Amino acid sequence: MLGRSIALSTFLLALGAAAPASPPAALDVENVTHSLNVSSCPGYALESLRETNTGLTAALSLVGPACNAFGRDITNLTIEVTYETITRLHVKIYDTDEQQFSIPESVISRPQAPTSALRNSSDLEFHYDTLPFAFWITRRSEPDAFPLFDTRLASLPSTPIPPNNATDNSTAFDGFPLVFEDQYLQLTSALPLDANVYGLGEAVSSSGLRRDVSQNGTIQTFWARDIQDPLDENVYGSHPIYLEHRYNQTTQKSQSHGVFLLSSSGADVLLRTPPSSNVSLVQYRMLGGILDFYLFSGPSPKSVVEQYGALIGLPTWQPAWGFGFHLCRWGYLDINETRAQVDNMRAANIPLEVMWNDIDVFHSLRDFTSDPVSFPGDEMRVFIQNLTKNHQHYIPILDAAVAKQVNSTDLYYPYIEGAKQDVFMENPDGTEYVGQVWPGYTVFPDWFANNTQQWWTQGLKNWSDSGVEYSGIWLDMNEASSFCDGSCGSNANLSITPPQVLPGDPGDLITDYPEGYNSTLSGPSGNITVNGTSTYVRRAVEVAPPLNRRGVGAGKQSGVDLNTPPYAIHNGFGRLSIHTIAPNATHAGGYAELDVHNMWGLMEEKTTHKALSDILPGKRPFIISRSTFASSGKWTGHWLGDNFSKWEYMRLSIQGILQFQIFQIPFVGADTCGFIGNTDEELCNRWMQLSAFTPFYRNHNQRGAISQEPYRWDSVANASRTAISIRYSLLPYWYTLVVEQFLIGSDILVTPVLTPNASTVDGVFPGRGNVTWRDWYTHNVLNTTSGGNVTLSAPLGHINVHIRDGSVILTHSEPAYTIEETRQGPYSLLVSQTSDGHVFGTAYIDDGISSPPGPSKTLAFSVTAGQVKITAHGAFDVKQKLQVITVLGTKKPTVVKMGGESKDGWEYIEAQEKLVVKGINLDLNEDATIVWKSDV
Ligand code: GLC
Repeated sequence: MLGRSIALSTFLLALGAAAPASPPAALDVENVTHSLNVSSCPGYALESLRETNTGLTAALSLVGPACNAFGRDITNLTIEVTYETITRLHVKIYDTDEQQFSIPESVISRPQAPTSALRNSSDLEFHYDTLPFAFWITRRSEPDAFPLFDTRLASLPSTPIPPNNATDNSTAFDGFPLVFEDQYLQLTSALPLDANVYGLGEAVSSSGLRRDVSQNGTIQTFWARDIQDPLDENVYGSHPIYLEHRYNQTTQKSQSHGVFLLSSSGADVLLRTPPSSNVSLVQYRMLGGILDFYLFSGPSPKSVVEQYGALIGLPTWQPAWGFGFHLCRWGYLDINETRAQVDNMRAANIPLEVMWNDIDVFHSLRDFTSDPVSFPGDEMRVFIQNLTKNHQHYIPILDAAVAKQVNSTDLYYPYIEGAKQDVFMENPDGTEYVGQVWPGYTVFPDWFANNTQQWWTQGLKNWSDSGVEYSGIWLDMNEASSFCDGSCGSNANLSITPPQVLPGDPGDLITDYPEGYNSTLSGPSGNITVNGTSTYVRRAVEVAPPLNRRGVGAGKQSGVDLNTPPYAIHNGFGRLSIHTIAPNATHAGGYAELDVHNMWGLMEEKTTHKALSDILPGKRPFIISRSTFASSGKWTGHWLGDNFSKWEYMRLSIQGILQFQIFQIPFVGADTCGFIGNTDEELCNRWMQLSAFTPFYRNHNQRGAISQEPYRWDSVANASRTAISIRYSLLPYWYTLVVEQFLIGSDILVTPVLTPNASTVDGVFPGRGNVTWRDWYTHNVLNTTSGGNVTLSAPLGHINVHIRDGSVILTHSEPAYTIEETRQGPYSLLVSQTSDGHVFGTAYIDDGISSPPGPSKTLAFSVTAGQVKITAHGAFDVKQKLQVITVLGTKKPTVVKMGGESKDGWEYIEAQEKLVVKGINLDLNEDATIVWKSDV
């Protein structure tokens, strides 16, 4: 979706151009020793093959003595290969006894088994060797090309792939057998040398959207983690999917395919090119579970993403108001300060759609409650109802952890009720699992427990009934974050709530100067806050601890160390229990947190989505969440977490947002103007303009940092008004993209300034052949050859936006203060013709709020030289009329006709070959034709 409005190539160029401000934090791997050489593992033999019309099943059995590298080898496996659709192939390898964890259908539902025989017609073909077992997958149309996936690497000679420590080749692998152990799985596939791999996240990737596959390449770790956006480490979400794009020199075809591993296991995925190798590699190293791969044949990037969506579920419908501008900060300490923001935004005439509150709103920092003194219920009700009257909205935060009541006089009902209803996670011995977050000691909802949905919905409902009449919910800290290293201990030690120093409080003042601060003008800069150091402890275990099972019941086993699996993934914090729930904490049914950790956020999102559907019936649930997993887009949008108020992080936000288009969570955005540290006028100016072209548009700031609302500086206010006005006029375009699930579109190209003190910006204008790009503001043709580098004027407050020829875009003519008021105004149509005049486009319109979506109208615009034909389909009644049509790149007409009648009120501007027909008052519920040829 986003790519349609932000063309990839300019951003990629930008991402590639500047070196990161600081080098990626090096992983300290001092304690890493792969004491066992995985290459000595015996591999498997394929037997008992049974072929069916839809695929095959077979047994895989270990062909030699177990190597027990990081666990115990599982002797008997089953492989199932299913041609699920023409474009999707499923390869599932699991332990025949089914003791390993696999993602329950209750968490992510899977499509029904195929009924038709696609084995000979699928785009993809599965091949295998029996001994040692290996498989490879090709495109049916290109049987001899480099396979899309290929595990036949056991024989790959002298191509060691360094293990954890990239510089240490002494323990390098020299073979790549399939390893399937109870606590360690490994599978390696060949990629073309220097392959174009995108995805595998969530990552703040220093190499941009395209992942680094060079010698030391990428280690993408999957272990959901609360951390201030570090470069190239595991962060909040887990999305084990990549898209690979290939250009075939011989056929001159560009094709993409996708590879998705449906696993919530803690894992490392390595992208590497072994020294002197003629192939690159992708290697999966997992802490458990099964190998559950899906391949998507594409062949366009967009179709890969669509095929992924067809498997895991398409993104949730967003309400139209969600596309408005959102204002948030940690540190609006009471209702007056919150209300003042709404008033100040209005006074500055900067559109504000949604006002947010952070944890300041809570009573004693506890979920589901607001502070009776600083955010009294009655006043909150009036405040929010006034917002509603003005077509504005309110969103509060909800943290993952629920305060544990430690004081018998200070009753906290959400905890008391939850304990009664048995909805909290437990220690392996069945006692309550206790962690620590903002409110002090906390417990954690167990999304697998029977009563959790009902209890969570009730908590949210009570809160709304108490006056906090929210329109949506912000889910935070759901990795889930906890400040102890694993469990905080037993009940006996928990009588006192630990003190919590918050940013901005004495002891944690935000005293660093903004990045752009000029010390020669403004005095010496200093006192830079340095973030705490992390420790990276690795564990080398030669003999695996006893482990009976890894599926249901795993967490309840005694004498088992689930907290420190033998293989140490490259979790940025080191041990898995640091700053989160311990891996041995258990869920209902006995699931170990180790196996389901990466899905904690997803399950909370699903539960919250359901709760909001009940509390706000008929309306589209609006949720923004930090930790996400495959299929989260079905329930939520996402923000990129705790970034820094630095130019580098504005730049990095682009790759983050594009990444989530691959992950099928299109509604995503960054903390605009930066979260951690102090921003400044210039950065905030550029960032407010950039984010106006990203799906989720929110300015959010840390407690104690200098204020950064867009009205704080005149230049930022101006820049914001300009960009928001473009955004709101483009709302029908955005809305249509969301409906159509576009990943990469072609019509609008944004070229933001990503460096300080700049008044120009370089951009590449993509396209093959003769593509014409026109300036959004002036409609002037840009003087460039496609693919050429152009320097554009970009004074502060101006963001370059260009439209491609061959586009037809429905816009709102009168962007207003809110989305609702904008939608109440008339429409315009902007056509940019190609040289042959042919253009086709669509627009989707509905009421913008109903869930499930009600009637809609799809408008098809078909332009040929001298004519626009509008065809309307669908029952939704579009009340607003089309008033203006602007056609760029056309000859001067002598007459303009509508419905056969001559039309006055048009003008032609030679300089831009622009025809503007005004006052047409066209009913968009009916088909229409507008003709402007000189010979009609
Ligand atoms: C986390 C969130 C941040 C929020 C803060 C306080 O750091 O990522 O957005 O402001 O917690 O709730």
